[in-house]
Amino acid sequence: MLEDTELFKQAREASATAYVPYSNFPVGAALVTKNGQVFQGCNIENASFGLTNCAERTAIFNAVSSGVKTFEMIGIYGETDEPISPCGACRQVLTEFCPDEMPVWLFSKTGDVKKTTVGELLPYHFKNLT
Ligand code: THU
Repeated sequence: MLEDTELFKQAREASATAYVPYSNFPVGAALVTKNGQVFQGCNIENASFGLTNCAERTAIFNAVSSGVKTFEMIGIYGETDEPISPCGACRQVLTEFCPDEMPVWLFSKTGDVKKTTVGELLPYHFKNLT
């Protein structure tokens, strides 16, 4: 597990490359793997707004496309007064790769942190049972 301050720094740094010409709302995510590697992600918007990819999904897809699928924690940073909270689509994607008990730390712009878990964010989530 990373310290609060280290995870905060990694998530904030990730937001620096956000492509947000439409919302001007940069978000960063830092996804820590079981062996301590960090994969970062930012939000990437599109003129067709619905195609926007959130920071959390970018971080997961970044890791999975590098061949890593075992995660320990994720930090999410928004330039907001209160800690940011992931959208429903990102919650579902997190459940695909992360155990329910995995910590999710949500950061405001000043580093206030709300600590939750994947399972708390999306209880009774869809799983492919076939
Ligand atoms: N966004 C994220 O990247 N993660 C979240 O947790 C919430 C929302 C992005 C999507 C869009 O680019 C911008 O924030 C405003 O909704």
